[in-house]
Amino acid sequence: MQKITVETKPIEGQKPGTSGLRKKTPVFMAPHYLENFVQSIFNAIGGVAGKSLVLGGDGRYFNDRAAQVILRMAAAGGAARVIVGQNALLSTPAASHLIRKRGTDGGIVLSASHNPGGPDEDFGVKFNTPNGGPAPEEVTNRIFEATKTITSYEIVEAQDLDLSAPGETMLGGTVVEIVDPVADYAELMQSLFDFDVIRRLIAGGFTLRFDAMHAVTGPYARTILEDLLGAPAGSVINAVPQPDFGGGHPDPNPIWARPLVDLAMGPDAPDFAAASDGDGDRNMILGRGIVVTPSDSLAVLAANATRAPGYAAGLKGVARSMPTSRAVDRVAAAAGLDCYETPTGWKFFGNLLDAGRATLCGEESAGTGSDHVREKDGLWAVLLWLNILAETGLSVAETLRAHWAAHGRNYYTRHDYEAVDKDRAKAMLEALRGRLDSLAGQSFAGRKVEMADEFSYDDPVDGSKSTGQGLRIHFEGGARIVYRLSGTGTVGATLRVYLEEYTDDPARLELPVEEVLADVIAAADEIAGIRDHTGRTAPDVRT
Ligand code: G6P
Ligand code: ZN
Repeated sequence: MQKITVETKPIEGQKPGTSGLRKKTPVFMAPHYLENFVQSIFNAIGGVAGKSLVLGGDGRYFNDRAAQVILRMAAAGGAARVIVGQNALLSTPAASHLIRKRGTDGGIVLSASHNPGGPDEDFGVKFNTPNGGPAPEEVTNRIFEATKTITSYEIVEAQDLDLSAPGETMLGGTVVEIVDPVADYAELMQSLFDFDVIRRLIAGGFTLRFDAMHAVTGPYARTILEDLLGAPAGSVINAVPQPDFGGGHPDPNPIWARPLVDLAMGPDAPDFAAASDGDGDRNMILGRGIVVTPSDSLAVLAANATRAPGYAAGLKGVARSMPTSRAVDRVAAAAGLDCYETPTGWKFFGNLLDAGRATLCGEESAGTGSDHVREKDGLWAVLLWLNILAETGLSVAETLRAHWAAHGRNYYTRHDYEAVDKDRAKAMLEALRGRLDSLAGQSFAGRKVEMADEFSYDDPVDGSKSTGQGLRIHFEGGARIVYRLSGTGTVGATLRVYLEEYTDDPARLELPVEEVLADVIAAADEIAGIRDHTGRTAPDVRT
């Protein structure tokens, strides 16, 4: 087989972000773009000669062709083995699991997560390290450096491989092992959860609906929920991965999964509803007449996890990102568990999970997971919920009510101001930063500030420090505002304002969220001058 060395030049802007390199699909399809980046990954990890890799993606447009290119490049680099999902499909958590289970030298996931896909939409490539987690900054920096000095890449000349059936085939000296993308993951889920008890719940008439949003979780959810757990055919909807995700955003939130929310709020609501995103790592949980906020979901799962066999021995600790509500902190305090507060981004949980300090982790941005893999995991969250409901016999709404009665309720909402002028957004935060020290003792919208600071994180495992991770205002009585700029936006700046209020007053546990938070919301504008600085009178998105 002919190996070719192709001369190339560095291409600007190949700096991996929070979750790999994400660009418009035509950018990735331009000459040398994908190849330069993949060769830079290989160069940054000391080459792939003799190594093994996992490869797969979320099925978006260009997923299949990109996978063929990467296989040819891995073969040219002398990789010993590439384990690739059938039809080049693998969800992010399934890829993480395969890397760990097979002890590979890492893996490449083709995805732009919840961003839309298609010829004019988004594409992405991310590298995960041998622990199964997203490459930490030290590795992504090396990849970026390699993109700036690249002069050539290597690729073998070969036809596309048939990836449509499991089995082994050779590409040059590289074994290409095509695996069923679902099998190993489904086995892992069966080792963590009591499938018999969930099967009995469903057989007893408990109804559920899972929206795969035309993305990668379709085959996983069909196998697990319908085939293994006996949910009637059709319980999983939008189950066939489409290159353009049916034209929508595969983002499980009340805007993009509106039909599912309408169903859960309507007269024909199933007992349980859920959705996942493009690559299968995010989740949304709903019950009859109720949407569970991600922060509450984390707290409920932490409080009840020991009901599932995989967690019956107890949790080692829990972790949440700083802007996530502090509902889980109360669970941890009651159970005597360590609770870690990390910056936004799943990669910050990796060290805590590797070191055995935390078992469950979660973020307000619809991510929940545990130490079973090193990514957040949408279907895992669904199964843990189902296992808990099957054990308690409670509905989703009853579960939340019982939780709030026991721990109090952290009312929570996030306001996003999208595509704000970057300089104006930065100026607003800069002005606020300068006033943080003077805020304690002052009142805004009738709320008295107790403490204000800028969050920074000292990683307790490797001692690294991350500064500038969000401005926090704490009020007397337990309310909190957090301001930060998104690290995943693509147009201008996205200002995120996280608003929280705590109560354990039994008479105030079931009020409308925006009503409870009305003066915290007013205080957020008064303190930071959002309208004046950004020119916006209302957020674009409320979660
Ligand atoms: C991705 C990351 C998450 C993060 C989320 C929001 O999904 O994997 O860890 O919480 O983006 O990040 P942002 O910086 O946009 O608030
Ligand atoms: Zn995702």
